[in-house]
Amino acid sequence: MSRRPALPAIAVLCSGQGTNFQALVSAARRGALRARIALLISDRPDAFALTRARRAGVEARYINPKAFPTRAAYERALIRLCEAHRVRLVCLAGFMRILSPVFVRRYRHRILNIHPALLPAFPGSHAIRDALRWGAKVTGVTVHLVDEAVDHGPILLQEALAIRPGETEAELLARIHRIEHRLYPKAIGLVLAGRVRVRGRRVSLG
Ligand code: GAR
Repeated sequence: MSRRPALPAIAVLCSGQGTNFQALVSAARRGALRARIALLISDRPDAFALTRARRAGVEARYINPKAFPTRAAYERALIRLCEAHRVRLVCLAGFMRILSPVFVRRYRHRILNIHPALLPAFPGSHAIRDALRWGAKVTGVTVHLVDEAVDHGPILLQEALAIRPGETEAELLARIHRIEHRLYPKAIGLVLAGRVRVRGRRVSLG
């Protein structure tokens, strides 16, 4: 009897709405993302992403950072959880917490982040607002491998979009989300297919 190889397990870390998480669930269901979403972890009890995960039948865990004496202890708990689920890739999707070297070293080059700007422009948690305040004419979406700095690490994929005159933050957010929901499954698929080579800051796609 031939058995299909098990799909690689991914964990998604979210602090908020979880629309990117939802897009990954949909892509996996359609077969557009060849991965099993094994785990959703949130650092906030009220994150809607937790509800989405439960509805999708994905294990949803709220891990309270304040319940741990140090950031390292908190991250070791995250690592244990990921290890228990044999997680191959950790995907940050609106996870508003900086990961320390404890976590980054354990999953070196196996942590992705999605950011709503063309990094290195507009890092941080208000990238869309910042781009509008600066009067930027172009912004976009970045998916990158995570290192020890904020919104930092080798860039995997980027897509630009022109900001429309008079565009509001909500309008721009909606357009950015549409790009994110397409780009993140694609980037994850490339990594899982072994098509990503990293040399220093440079990423080449095979
Ligand atoms: C996304 O737009 C993501 O790019 C952003 O948080 C949002 C989460 O939305 N991430 C950052 O700003 C990281 N610095 P979601 O919870 O609906 O997926």
